[in-house]
Amino acid sequence: MAYENILYAVEGGIATITINRPDKLNALNRLTLAEIDGAMAEAIADDAVTGILLTGSDEKAFAAGADISEFADFDEEQGTELSAAGHAIFNGIENCEKPVIALVNGFALGGGCELAMACHMRIASGNARFGQPEVNLGLIPGYAGTQRLVQLVGKAKALELLLTGDAIKADEAHRLGLVNHVVENVADLRAKGLEILNKIATKGPVAVAHCIALVNDYYDMEENGFENEIETFGSLFQTPEFREGTQAFLEKRAPKFRG
Ligand code: COA
Repeated sequence: MAYENILYAVEGGIATITINRPDKLNALNRLTLAEIDGAMAEAIADDAVTGILLTGSDEKAFAAGADISEFADFDEEQGTELSAAGHAIFNGIENCEKPVIALVNGFALGGGCELAMACHMRIASGNARFGQPEVNLGLIPGYAGTQRLVQLVGKAKALELLLTGDAIKADEAHRLGLVNHVVENVADLRAKGLEILNKIATKGPVAVAHCIALVNDYYDMEENGFENEIETFGSLFQTPEFREGTQAFLEKRAPKFRG
């Protein structure tokens, strides 16, 4: 299948999906998300594929978030739809029966961090930065960041990252358990990802699929949090602070949320 915003390749049984909008720091617009979904389906359907790597082109960004320019004028209904569509795609990645590893090669902010968190493992290069900066836009994460961040780093740190919007470096992300491994350079990411996926490829695929499903089952009790996030995300699209936050970003100025 031909894609516009991603690259898709299969080599040695491993599929690689590369987000390819470097001039927009690989921001996840609707087409890009749909294409990631399409490439995932292609990889799942291909019996030759045993594992999937997901990464960003260039050395600057894995993905710097959902594409703010695309949703800045959305209303509540559109915001809810945007979030629900993203949840469906990211849930598909999380529940993929083949292992999916994010190779985080730079900024993984907002939807980029959420995309990495939906993968089964994350490997970061030294220049990677993780964060959920949505509060800067008067918004919250819309692709399950409020849920998966807690699962990965625990409540206290998740709240700190969500409420401050601060980005953390790769080493800190590793210390917190947000990433599995850190490699020094972007060029080293692929080798580490392949090492893990090729090892998993020697194991029983049915057993591997069950491990993924059962680990996901552990978190099923938090389903309401996922639903609530979709509704809350949508409701914020009618607030003045969301308008101010997104406009300020597009106008390249600091937002004024109070007074
Ligand atoms: N949505 C849409 N466009 C984005 C984007 C996003 N999430 N992140 C970056 N871009 C665009 C910029 O608008 C800019 O486009 P332009 O050249 O047409 O003006 C381009 O990508 C490069 O970004 P720029 O901001 O110039 O790079 P920088 O190195 O100065 O800053 C960041 C990098 C990541 C700190 C900054 O781009 C940023 O804060 N991005 C938004 C992060 C965010 O809030 N994500 C959550 C969204 S819900």
